[in-house]
Amino acid sequence: MAIVDWRCTPNIAINDPVLMVGKPPALTAATGMDALTHAVEAYVSTIATPITDACAIKAIELVAQYLSVAVANGENLEARDKMAYAEYLAGMAFNNASLGYVHSMAHQLGGFYNLPHGVCNAILLPAVSQYNLIACPQRFADIAVAMGENISGLSVTEAAEKAISAIRRLSASIGIPTGLKELNVKEKDLKVMAENAKKDACQFTNPRKATLEQVIEIFKAAM
Ligand SMILES: [Fe+2]
Repeated sequence: MAIVDWRCTPNIAINDPVLMVGKPPALTAATGMDALTHAVEAYVSTIATPITDACAIKAIELVAQYLSVAVANGENLEARDKMAYAEYLAGMAFNNASLGYVHSMAHQLGGFYNLPHGVCNAILLPAVSQYNLIACPQRFADIAVAMGENISGLSVTEAAEKAISAIRRLSASIGIPTGLKELNVKEKDLKVMAENAKKDACQFTNPRKATLEQVIEIFKAAM
């Protein structure tokens, strides 16, 4: 169960890219993909607004341009600076538009197996996005453009698919595992994790509703 309350959130956050220079590449990759997930889930959220959209889409652009650069060379201060802006913008987006099934399901993987939050999100993001695609194809087409994909001549659905392939490509390029099997996630745990994910506060704003069986299927698609 994710615990969120004003008593356990900080009053001040120091968002200084110099402090991030010492982060190893794998931690940079995982936390950067968490920021991307915040932005994508906020952008397709049922309670997104033009204000959260502006924050989310800029965050997606910055992550697409600078995350792999920051992973490649943690001392690149331009990349660290742009990623600091990206995660801050993504935070502003999701603190107002909330999240979706990626986070609901990732919370279970973290709780069951003590896995890194960003890695769980990164693996689940393409699978949940594929599931969500029919709910808001234009939104995913916008994400594709923000990630630098060329969508000219494509249908909205084809453009939306490009967002998912771009996310997969980014993950692979920065060394994120391709599936949950690599993290020793067990099929026997999927049902109870799906039951819990359906109770998670983040799922309320997911753009497509899901039955228990559908959540299990999304987990399986991410295996
Ligand atoms: Fe997160």
